[in-house]
Amino acid sequence: AWQAVAGPRTVLLAAPRSFCAGVERAIEIVECALAQRKGPVYVRKQIVHNAHVVADLRERGAIFVDELDAVPDGATVVFSAHGVSPAVRAEAERRAMTVIDATCPLVTKVHAEARRFAARGDTVVLIGHAGHEEVEGTVGEAPDRTVLVPEVSDVDSLEVEDPSRVSYLTQTTLAVDETTEVVEALKKRFPQLRGPASDDICYATTNRQEALKAIADEADLVLVVGSLNSSNSRRLVELSLRRGTRAHLIDDVGGLSPDWLAGVRVVGLTAGASAPHHLVDQVIDTLSALGPTTVEERETTRETVHFGLPRGVSRPS
Ligand code: F3S
Repeated sequence: AWQAVAGPRTVLLAAPRSFCAGVERAIEIVECALAQRKGPVYVRKQIVHNAHVVADLRERGAIFVDELDAVPDGATVVFSAHGVSPAVRAEAERRAMTVIDATCPLVTKVHAEARRFAARGDTVVLIGHAGHEEVEGTVGEAPDRTVLVPEVSDVDSLEVEDPSRVSYLTQTTLAVDETTEVVEALKKRFPQLRGPASDDICYATTNRQEALKAIADEADLVLVVGSLNSSNSRRLVELSLRRGTRAHLIDDVGGLSPDWLAGVRVVGLTAGASAPHHLVDQVIDTLSALGPTTVEERETTRETVHFGLPRGVSRPS
């Protein structure tokens, strides 16, 4: 089947792609914890939503658990990049755990906004996807004052205590264009709507969407490297589909199907913020092995964001 889809082919490589600063930091935090460990290192939830990253850290000794009830009292636990609700923090404290917090600073910022908006008596409209860990954490800051709005169609039926006291926040990994629509609809219903000082959709999510926009129209097929539960990766697939270009999400090159390549001369390639760079390289290698392949990187912006490690966490010397 692979012979039938031999090149020549062009790969348009989106840049930026792959790891963001929050993911790099979260992985490094687990690595540091493993290097310094005196006992087992537990990680609550997937540290970032990527199967390869989790498997790699598990192999190096990290113990991934779904909830704190699987962690013994007094043990070391790392909170994932997506953040946790105050209830989880309280439980860890009550049970004398040593907490290492890998919450992305850009998620922490949204938590702070949620607290601030709720404290001034607003109903907090959180634009985001039900069931996502980040959303669970943010809602947990003010569960009684927060309502979740996944889509623009949910705005009409929204019930709030006082329409003149409504603020909105967003999950960090949403589709930029769709979120603008939701905010516009909210403004129409609640003219006094207030929001965050600057967008909650993070720079990495925004940049990966912009980079994909710059190549999607030229491509016959778009491949997004990322795991199924990665929100920002899924938004990239949807973005391409909305622009009329076929797109698939693959965890790694093993997910690539020869059928997708029939008649395809230009492949657009990118990766979500939790997907390691080398997985993208492996896709390029496989495509190159099929026949003459030109790789063209299109960079829409250069990222320079870097987050320091939390206090008490340091690289092993
Ligand atoms: Fe943080 Fe955005 Fe990455 S919220 S973890 S920088 S995708």
